[in-house]
Amino acid sequence: MEEGLLRYEKLAEDLGGIIVAGNLRPGERLPSVRRLSRERRLSVSTVLQALHQLEDRGLVEARPQSGYFVRHAAARRAPPDPRSTPEEPVPVDVSQRLMHVLQAGVRPGIAPLAAALPSSSLLPVATLQRLYGGVVRRHPQLLEGGSHINMDEPALVRQLVLRSVGWAGPLAAAEFVITNSCTEALGLCLRAVTRPGDTVAVESPAYYLMLQLLETLGLKALEIPTDPRSGISLEALDLATRGSRIAACLLVPNASNPLGSIMPDENKWRLARLMVERAVPVIEDDIYGDLHFGNQRPRPIKAFDHAGNVMLCSSFSKCLSPALRIGFVAAGRYRPQIALHKTITSGGTNPVTQLVLAEYLESGACARHMRGLRRIYQRQVEAMRAAVARYFPPTTRITEPQGGFVLWVELPADVDTSALYEQAIAAGVGYVPGELFSASGMYRNCLRLNCGNPHTPEIDNAVRRLGELMDS
Ligand SMILES: Cc1ncc(COP(=O)(O)O)c(C=O)c1O
Repeated sequence: MEEGLLRYEKLAEDLGGIIVAGNLRPGERLPSVRRLSRERRLSVSTVLQALHQLEDRGLVEARPQSGYFVRHAAARRAPPDPRSTPEEPVPVDVSQRLMHVLQAGVRPGIAPLAAALPSSSLLPVATLQRLYGGVVRRHPQLLEGGSHINMDEPALVRQLVLRSVGWAGPLAAAEFVITNSCTEALGLCLRAVTRPGDTVAVESPAYYLMLQLLETLGLKALEIPTDPRSGISLEALDLATRGSRIAACLLVPNASNPLGSIMPDENKWRLARLMVERAVPVIEDDIYGDLHFGNQRPRPIKAFDHAGNVMLCSSFSKCLSPALRIGFVAAGRYRPQIALHKTITSGGTNPVTQLVLAEYLESGACARHMRGLRRIYQRQVEAMRAAVARYFPPTTRITEPQGGFVLWVELPADVDTSALYEQAIAAGVGYVPGELFSASGMYRNCLRLNCGNPHTPEIDNAVRRLGELMDS
């Protein structure tokens, strides 16, 4: 045995060497655990330790009941490491740059890799059209009413409660507020529990729209290191909330934007408990919860909350249509303040759309659509990963999203994705520069790609042009 190497490390090194040298090719099966144990005279647990190390290095993957297989080169790209973040909260100033990026990204002729929007070809538009026609015919009074008191449609709330049975609890009908989008829900929650000048703990990198909300409400962001696989660091959150007052914790625990991470249940449970102990309200964005790639719908943090301290926000923008502009918050004990803010902000939520959505959710079409959509998004994300691995500089790191449809890419340290943005637009490709996911200007060598569109030759070509730009 080589000096210094433990037995399992030696085995991992030997197997890794064979894979890197190409003697075991992508997709090929490794010798079984039993065979390795017999031939190398190692215990089964030592062999498994070696295989887990190879899994961590991204070289192999376990397939249930089948054994260990060599991963494809694209899949072997490691995700970025979590970064340490500033210890102090900072004011946010991303809106101007962000608006410029998003507007440029939707210009005609620009490949749609910037905003996280699904292709219209994936949305059940014809079904929604039919439902709108039917609802308006059967319920003409919905077009006559007008009220500045929010009228949540009971049929929709009932469907939302029923959907939560499997993964949250169920949630209580009395805690819901129906909103115009997830964005509105998040804004209402923030307004209900913060005052200008307060600090809000966010993931790092954080979804830029959350940073914009903090900016417009005069709030500071405290960036918490976040792991591309397991989400926000509980140790860092624990430290951050020990001494100083944090007004809220705002996060996307299921298939986060931009990392695609899903927090393990254990971490969700610990976070729910810790935030109650520290009296910090939790605002949870679960918009990608239904778009998981694994077999099981991941649970929200709300499922572990017994104190009414978690506000669960979501919408149907990512799975049915962003044009519906309909979302909700299950607001726990903050519901009265949130309902008040809803009333004074936008009165109510379109009653026709509420009923259309209720009818759609009630139909079996919805479950079928979601099953198909999850598979399609997963394929598109994999195709985009493979394209980035092919066209971007060799040391590029790429996330392995566990759901949703965005990809986070970390380039070599000297690449500046903000500086390259105009050149990318001139080359006909959009993306969101990494810097816009941080209040303190981190991630200048990162970018986010939208994988909401089928990976056509045009999209592949756009990724190639982007890769050339990042390599120049
Ligand atoms: C995490 C997250 N939350 C909220 C939204 C916005 O949702 P909505 O269209 O319902 O406002 C998005 C869209 O990109 C998102 O990624």
